[in-house]
Amino acid sequence: MPTAVITGATSGLGLAFATHLARTGHDLTLIARTEEDLEETAARLRRSDRRVTTLAADLATDAGSRRLTDSLAENVPDLLVNNAGIALSAPFPIGDLGAEETLLRLNIGCVLRTTRTVLPVMMRRGSGAIVNVASVAAYGPTWLGSTYPASKSWVLAFTESVARSAPVRSSGVRVMALLPGYVRTALHQRAGLEIDHVPRWMWLSSERVVAAALHDLAGGRLISIPSRRYRACAWGLRHLPRTLTTAFSLDLAPERPLSRPGGTAPSVDAGT
Ligand SMILES: NC(=O)c1ccc[n+]([C@@H]2O[C@H](COP(=O)([O-])OP(=O)(O)OC[C@H]3O[C@@H](n4cnc5c(N)ncnc54)[C@H](OP(=O)(O)O)[C@@H]3O)[C@@H](O)[C@H]2O)c1
Repeated sequence: MPTAVITGATSGLGLAFATHLARTGHDLTLIARTEEDLEETAARLRRSDRRVTTLAADLATDAGSRRLTDSLAENVPDLLVNNAGIALSAPFPIGDLGAEETLLRLNIGCVLRTTRTVLPVMMRRGSGAIVNVASVAAYGPTWLGSTYPASKSWVLAFTESVARSAPVRSSGVRVMALLPGYVRTALHQRAGLEIDHVPRWMWLSSERVVAAALHDLAGGRLISIPSRRYRACAWGLRHLPRTLTTAFSLDLAPERPLSRPGGTAPSVDAGT
């Protein structure tokens, strides 16, 4: 049986990856922080006769990400989906620095470490695949005052650079960046982001994004952007002048001054 390891597998895109991959015959290892959610998800997926193991770990911590890389080193899967990621609602530089560092450790650090762990083994085997979940926001500062798009730009640049390198290309290992647009998941609510202004047509379902991503992976794509509307958005972000594209960007703190005369900087709680 092919094996897959999915980070952030209990909700949204990660859960959709787990469900799809179980249906297509993969044995799974699911990672997230919340044990009850992991057990509930695993129990549901085991009904399709798959072997499902879980690892409860906070991947934004050194200890948590080391537990994952140790487990990966012992058992390098056929497919690794680096999906766990967070956004923050508090704009930079007002938000909490600790929350920003957590975002960097999860959205970037964990992707670096897990890819470093599995890729050499996959290359020696001459098979395997890694999907790193970035975002269409990787192509530009779509959320002004947010470091989230910058973290996803790193994931895209890193993945593309690795995937295009001669040793990886000739090894038979597939490395792909997935760039979703807005997907209906818990991400925005968990971060405390206002999403009421986002028009209905901009929302995709997790299932659709994952089906398109796995189709693109099988087709050997380096970058997967599910849906025509987001391929058009990505084209615009890459080729139109920034003055134009930023006019359509969400500003996390449009009116908020950084400091008041004679006062202190307003404090804004960071989302998680
Ligand atoms: N939703 C969108 O519109 C959208 C668009 C573009 C890209 N993305 C990207 O898609 C990926 C998945 O996001 P989603 O929208 O599916 O989010 P989600 O519904 O909030 O799910 C996040 C998953 O990650 C886990 N997780 C969060 N922090 C973690 C940590 N520190 N350590 C381990 N696991 C952690 C969560 O479980 P626990 O809380 O139990 O740990 C959960 O399973 C992210 O990388 C996100 O940036 C999302």
